[in-house]
Amino acid sequence: MRSMSLLKRIEEIISGGASRFYVPGHKGRLGAFGGDFSKYDITEIPGADSLYSPSGAIAELEGLVSQAYKSGASLISCGGSTLAVQAMLAHYAKPGSVVIMARNAHISAVNAAALLGFEPFWVYPDGDAGEALPGRISPPAIEKALEKNPGAAAVYITSPDYFGVLSDVKAIAGICGKHGAPLLIDNAHGAHLSFSGQAHPIREGADMCADSAHKTLPALTGAAFLHIRNGDLKSAMKSRMALFGSTSPSYLVMGSIDYCMAWLAENGGDDYIKLAGRVERLALMAKEKGFALPEGLRDKTRLTLGACALGYSAPELAGWLRENKIEPEYVGNSYLVLVPGPFNAERDFARLENAIDKIKPRKPAPFLREMEFYSPKRILSIREAYFSEIEEIPVEKAAGRILAENVSACPPGVPVALGGDKIDGILEKMLISYGVLQVKVVK
Ligand SMILES: Cc1ncc(COP(=O)(O)O)c(C=O)c1O
Repeated sequence: MRSMSLLKRIEEIISGGASRFYVPGHKGRLGAFGGDFSKYDITEIPGADSLYSPSGAIAELEGLVSQAYKSGASLISCGGSTLAVQAMLAHYAKPGSVVIMARNAHISAVNAAALLGFEPFWVYPDGDAGEALPGRISPPAIEKALEKNPGAAAVYITSPDYFGVLSDVKAIAGICGKHGAPLLIDNAHGAHLSFSGQAHPIREGADMCADSAHKTLPALTGAAFLHIRNGDLKSAMKSRMALFGSTSPSYLVMGSIDYCMAWLAENGGDDYIKLAGRVERLALMAKEKGFALPEGLRDKTRLTLGACALGYSAPELAGWLRENKIEPEYVGNSYLVLVPGPFNAERDFARLENAIDKIKPRKPAPFLREMEFYSPKRILSIREAYFSEIEEIPVEKAAGRILAENVSACPPGVPVALGGDKIDGILEKMLISYGVLQVKVVK
């Protein structure tokens, strides 16, 4: 057998023993599958139900998810929130329609514009969550966008964002209701909000939302939910999901969702409330130390540290954490994101407390923005650009050409540039600063 380099790499990472402050939420301690996990990897044989027309155990599981979230209906996804995002946009955004979309949307939503042929009307985050962070989507900005686009197919925002910053979903839902526009929420980072004592978007008036169960709940990568406020749309939404989803859904992923829901019913509420308290104490400690934290309403279980306030860049802070055997979720320019969860061990929190306590403050350094939103001249729609004849060229030779695809650094997966943008000197420099050296352009 050839040497298995990926498996070897994974084993090296595991044996390094760093505390996992990154997703998935099970932190490598799921315990859902006894013995050899592969025996649970079955397919849609009789008795195992079928994901896209369930009537047995999968239907029952979806019912439990819906009850837990108090939605009209909830569907499970083995294709992450990406599949739920594609499905909800496919339901509302017809080809040629306009979707009012927050510019910090994840690439899964912006790529859906290429698949479905809608064009986003951008609303920009307001920068009110602290220095260099993108900030929130403000209700007045949504109202203004709806007044400009009275026929908009939907409003689409991300809340919480990668940094744990929450927008006022309730107020935005009220405005959408007044204008008759459905509100769709990318809640990929907020599947736990129902359990940690904070408002979940489906209870705040969102028409639909996508939750990545695998990010903050104990479920395998790929596990996600599509929550629907109006349960009558359940069957229609199954069809939308089937449009993009694999015809071979993973029973491992679905089994992990079953385990996750049983665990939530038993301990989940208490454990997330405890987690929120623990992270709040860590946040307070970090603040006293001098770190910048996101301002205003935020997810209480996420720890986002602004390193520059303490004189460190985010990569320098990551270096310090790694010395202390801690692996973060995201290392930006100025901010570093940690995703603690109930499945982190006590030792993980002790390491983090110690690392925050022992770091030596330096003279504060200037913050660098975490996300740039530049709008060069638009030449083609996102869909036209994607389905053009394309070629790949070095970025430094791309000035004057039309970008053929959305480009993002992942994480956080928010596009820096969009298919159909005309590449100018500023965009060229931005792409290089994001480490993009080759781009696909229209021929
Ligand atoms: C804000 C946001 N939305 C959507 C997604 C896509 O979620 P998934 O990885 O579950 O497909 C991500 C993934 O990182 C994300 O960060």
